[in-house]
Amino acid sequence: MTDEKIGIIGFGAIGQEIYKKISRKIISGYIVIGVFSEDIEDQKIPKKIKCNSVEELLKKKPKVIIEAASVEACRNYAEKILKNKIDFMCLSVCSFADQSFFKKINLLVKKIKSKIYIPTGAISGLDAISSASISNELTDVTLIQRKPPKALVSLLESKKIKKEKVLSKSTARRICKKFPKNSNIAATLAICGLGFDKTKVVVIADPKIKKNIAEIKATGKFGKLKIFLQNNPSKNPKTSRLTAMSVLLSLDKRKNYFLTAF
Ligand SMILES: NC(=O)c1ccc[n+]([C@@H]2O[C@H](COP(=O)([O-])OP(=O)(O)OC[C@H]3O[C@@H](n4cnc5c(N)ncnc54)[C@H](O)[C@@H]3O)[C@@H](O)[C@H]2O)c1
Repeated sequence: MTDEKIGIIGFGAIGQEIYKKISRKIISGYIVIGVFSEDIEDQKIPKKIKCNSVEELLKKKPKVIIEAASVEACRNYAEKILKNKIDFMCLSVCSFADQSFFKKINLLVKKIKSKIYIPTGAISGLDAISSASISNELTDVTLIQRKPPKALVSLLESKKIKKEKVLSKSTARRICKKFPKNSNIAATLAICGLGFDKTKVVVIADPKIKKNIAEIKATGKFGKLKIFLQNNPSKNPKTSRLTAMSVLLSLDKRKNYFLTAF
């Protein structure tokens, strides 16, 4: 069987890792045929896969496009990609905290039958949370995100934080708007669980830690769930290594017949 063609938007820490893993055939069945990124000129990848615009990438007719760029990229390109009957794998999940964008994309995929994939990203426990949610038996979900200050605020600001500081305590919707580069976990949790307005999030800058820590607490008729995830950062201190791995899992599942959840 021929490999399915993949396009990537965004070639930073995560986009590069996804590209490397697919090119090394860590999973089979896919080939990267085009990459578009704002900084594509500076990137060391074969010339024939460099694209200078999304339009150039679309012309190569990929079956799936993976967005590993930014909320702005997701908002600008999602509709165009889906309307070209290309499946869209999205990592900048905070984009969906915008109600009208979420609604528009949901209506579109239902109408044209292209698919959106949201990989688990830098989070775990979504299996239990989704199961409880689909049965309307989920009561409460709280995420506590703890990161080194430089991952959350400017370098100048981060130097002033000498001890643990709560930067924000709010709903997933508000947190996604305030920290769009850091809150994709909150967005994924919200979509799988109680929604953006009922998912509670606390963001803490902690100068004592070097890793990105996510604590998830959920309760419902199923009982209680508590997850402690200590994520190694990717090359970008704001994001975690697990994210690229989760994209591979989503791609692999796309082709599997023996399906396990998530
Ligand atoms: N879902 C999750 O759990 C999860 C986890 C980590 C990161 N993320 C998200 O994934 C994305 C990539 O993360 P990263 O660590 O690789 O970031 P990065 O800053 O290292 O790289 C981003 C890349 O995208 C490019 N880019 C940005 N905006 C663009 C646009 N509008 N058009 C074209 N290219 C654009 C940049 O030039 C850069 O190459 C971010 O939005 C991040 O928030 C999601």
